[in-house]
Amino acid sequence: MGEHRAHRWLRWPSEPDRARLGFGADYNPEQWPREVWREDARAMRAAGVNIVSLAIFSWARLQPRAEEWDFAWLDEVMDLLHAYDIAVDLATATASPPPWLASTYPQILPVDRDGRVRWPGGRQHWRPTSPIFRRHALRLTRRLARRYGAHPALAAWHLSNELGCHNVYDYSDDAAAAFRAWLRTRYGTLAALNRAWATSFWSQHYSDWGQILPPRLATSYPNPTQQLDFKRFSSDALKEHLRAERDLLAELTPDIPVTTNFMVMGETNGMNYADWATEVDFVANDHYLTPGPQAYDELSFSANLTGNLAGGRPWFLMEHSTSAVNWQPVNLAKRPGQLARDSLTHVAHGADAVCFFQWRQSAAGAEKYHSAMIPHAGEDSDVFRAVTDLGATLRALAPVAGTPRSRARAAIVLDWDSWWAAELDSGPTDRLRYRQEALDWYSAFLDLGIRADVVPASAPLEQYDLLVAPILHVVPGALADRLRRYVTGGGHLVTTYFSGIVDEHNHVWLGGYPGALRDLLGIRIQEFAPLADGQTVGLDNGTTGTLWTDHIALTEPGTEILARYRNGDLAGRPALTRRVVGAGSAAYVSTRLGPAGLSTVLAELADRAGVHSELPGELRGRVELAVRGPYRFLISRTDQPVDAAPLGPADTVLLRATGVTVVRTPAGGRASHEAHPPQSGSGV
Ligand code: GAL
Repeated sequence: MGEHRAHRWLRWPSEPDRARLGFGADYNPEQWPREVWREDARAMRAAGVNIVSLAIFSWARLQPRAEEWDFAWLDEVMDLLHAYDIAVDLATATASPPPWLASTYPQILPVDRDGRVRWPGGRQHWRPTSPIFRRHALRLTRRLARRYGAHPALAAWHLSNELGCHNVYDYSDDAAAAFRAWLRTRYGTLAALNRAWATSFWSQHYSDWGQILPPRLATSYPNPTQQLDFKRFSSDALKEHLRAERDLLAELTPDIPVTTNFMVMGETNGMNYADWATEVDFVANDHYLTPGPQAYDELSFSANLTGNLAGGRPWFLMEHSTSAVNWQPVNLAKRPGQLARDSLTHVAHGADAVCFFQWRQSAAGAEKYHSAMIPHAGEDSDVFRAVTDLGATLRALAPVAGTPRSRARAAIVLDWDSWWAAELDSGPTDRLRYRQEALDWYSAFLDLGIRADVVPASAPLEQYDLLVAPILHVVPGALADRLRRYVTGGGHLVTTYFSGIVDEHNHVWLGGYPGALRDLLGIRIQEFAPLADGQTVGLDNGTTGTLWTDHIALTEPGTEILARYRNGDLAGRPALTRRVVGAGSAAYVSTRLGPAGLSTVLAELADRAGVHSELPGELRGRVELAVRGPYRFLISRTDQPVDAAPLGPADTVLLRATGVTVVRTPAGGRASHEAHPPQSGSGV
């Protein structure tokens, strides 16, 4: 990871040094008559709200025509919020262009890979590379910075909104031109690009830069390196937009920190946040639950990764939901207690602010069925009572504010290049899901009660005793060297099927799989053997594999077989291997085992790495432990309340909410940034 910008947190308008957690929402007063605004401010105070994100979708209201501006309403809202001591995270309002802009300049509209224009009518219909859009967005940003830069309510700038939510992949002519410029910077010469893209294949050799296009709908699979580079470029193009707005704000209002809300959640992967995190003053994230058996684990996984993208420093939960969303096939309401449980999971992983989409549920428009802090039913509602309770809970947790997350001894690596490349078309199976495999490992850690960080590949890996790098598909030479040094230096590396296969250009490392990691793992695979839908394979450790198998040969004398296939074409052959190298080890899992199977495997691998649970036996699996300095969060993994007792006799209970207990370990206690000794299962 690059150097973080100096970490600057919100500029709280009043009592800037008082420790507090942010609590609030997106606030969209333009959807309501003025009479409601005062009601809003009063109810916000009643609920304990201390910050709102304002003007996110206000462009058309602020600039109804090219040369007409209307700030009066926003002046009034800013002043009103300030009068109620509510800080403002003010948007640059550039997320969704107004109708006049799109109709005057239809060339700002994104184009999909089939060549279809994405017309106005929704939101975020702009090309990240459009010079016209950029000019108008910066014009608005400048106006807002000049008008509100010194407003006493202003706590931070909120750049755009969820950059790339709807427009990450644009195949327009603007995108084509910008893609070529990006490729020139990356490769320097056409010859280098032709080599990297392996254009000798299928007669694709380029003789002029102008011939290069984004991977638009083609007769067959577009060139895989072109596809991978287009993903890298598309993430960079949005990052350039972020930088353009940020640099302007830094020039005009150097004292105001800037952020933008990431989408570290579910399968969203268009933006390489490992690369973006250093561009903002503080990291902010939006998270919505993915329904299913791993919903809570996924929430924790995302919060954990966000905390690590932020370098362990506090971050801002910019959006989540008080109850149902409106954009899933079936939108589940939250259960009693879940609002606090979900919110505090984010706090446990370093969030110093808990905010929602949105303050008041819309009466009309595309999100009228999305929950909010004040639902359609009004303040006399279970949701608003739960919101108010949460406000009080967060006040009780104020001492936690500013405390960094404490590192675990184990980590799971999440690598955007591998995510992108492993899921490209024309691979051995299109059933492979990169993030799901990583999440399954995370669930296995939670099942065993072992804390694990989720970190980008660029993180300092050597600080972990146990490192799981699932489907680490793209392994450039430098990463292979880092992993070799990690293992010989005493680290315990675990990797899986389809790892080590290609270099940064998506070219296969020849000589047998897992390519770049072959020697380190002490194994060699001649051919992949993915499984058909519904096909399973038993292992002699009692687990069952799906999706993938490998025909593994051992190449180094010290490579040990931890489990063998029990049936199928590979019966009797190795399925799981481990090789001791120097002071460390390198292990390989050749099939998809799912959370239960991985728990079995991980129990052994973690034990051999000397990494153990810090939880008393009866809490393991039922409760997640997350640590911020002296604060330990015990979070129920189920909907059942868990009496998560303090971990030690000296711990004081700071807070007990449904499904969450927060304890404070006395100074000099075991919670620190140092490695934690294993806990005896004493049941304290
Ligand atoms: C986010 C977005 C919000 C709102 C929310 C609904 O993607 O930033 O404006 O649409 O989802 O869940």
